[in-house]
Amino acid sequence: MANKEIKRIAVFTSGGDAPGMNAAIRATVRNAINNDLHVYGIMRGYEGMINGDIRRLETKDVGNIIHRGGTVLKTARSMRFMTPEGRKQAYENLMFNDIDALVAIGGNGTFTGASVFMQEYPDIPILGVPGTIDNDLFGTDFSIGFDTAVNTAVQAVDKIRDTADSHNRLFFVEVMGRDSGYIALHTAIAGGAGGVLLPEEESSLDDLVKLLKRSAKRAKLFSIVIVAEGNHMGTVYDIARHVEEKIDIYDDIKVSVIGHLQRGGSPSSFDRVLASVLGFTAVDALLEGKSGCMIGIKNNNAHYTPFKDAINNSKTFNKSLLRMAHILAQ
Ligand code: F6P
Repeated sequence: MANKEIKRIAVFTSGGDAPGMNAAIRATVRNAINNDLHVYGIMRGYEGMINGDIRRLETKDVGNIIHRGGTVLKTARSMRFMTPEGRKQAYENLMFNDIDALVAIGGNGTFTGASVFMQEYPDIPILGVPGTIDNDLFGTDFSIGFDTAVNTAVQAVDKIRDTADSHNRLFFVEVMGRDSGYIALHTAIAGGAGGVLLPEEESSLDDLVKLLKRSAKRAKLFSIVIVAEGNHMGTVYDIARHVEEKIDIYDDIKVSVIGHLQRGGSPSSFDRVLASVLGFTAVDALLEGKSGCMIGIKNNNAHYTPFKDAINNSKTFNKSLLRMAHILAQ
């Protein structure tokens, strides 16, 4: 299909919110206006597209948001967009507003939706910006929100360490990440954890118990184990109960689930810069005729990955980082 001239673009956030999404919205809007485009914001992702909740955005509308967590455009996980009727309605609303192109900020579900939509309605180019704390998208070293989420988790672990040490307790701390262990691995390394359980690795409770017993031999009477929510061994409560049956080192064993604290809060400077670069470059990319892909960062350079590859390939773990985390945990 020949590239059509882009005059009006719309930006939206979809799926789980991630700190830094506002910086990406701001950069998209301001670079678009700098290129004499009209910019629109779609509220609540694909839901707003279906409902026709589409608003004009000016430079001032994205002022004073770079430091705010969440997303000023709000977000949703839309079930209706999974149906052909929902997507048809969304397309009609985009046509009604004369939208020529889209910037989609989100994760796996967002790009799956974008990919299906583009097959049905190829006349609307879409550029994806990776925004998810999980950092699970193939084609980018980092996604927006990951750095902030890890920092939040590490702050929590530092606090738990104080009380764990005072009481000679073992803590199991569950972090988010869905099926990905990136948040867990980085939190374990930065938080000096005594163990880490990840979805990407087959490990056993016996191995964990051995590791904790080895640490106890050097008079370490407290410990913190980071558990990725998607690990293979069950819920963090099951894991704690099983370990309790096999170990008699600590005064007590406790569980702490950090949960949605990891999704909120003011974005780190890393996430603000990453989001600004990606949001800004997404507009340039659309104007250069790119479409149907996610813009990411690889080795500090912009990198484009077709939606189908970003969603169908799993992002491989850095094995040496994993090995290091296990050695340092001892
Ligand atoms: O994808 C981001 C994420 O926070 C995951 O880490 C987590 O599994 C999921 O979203 C939680 O989703 P919800 O907020 O819809 O419960």
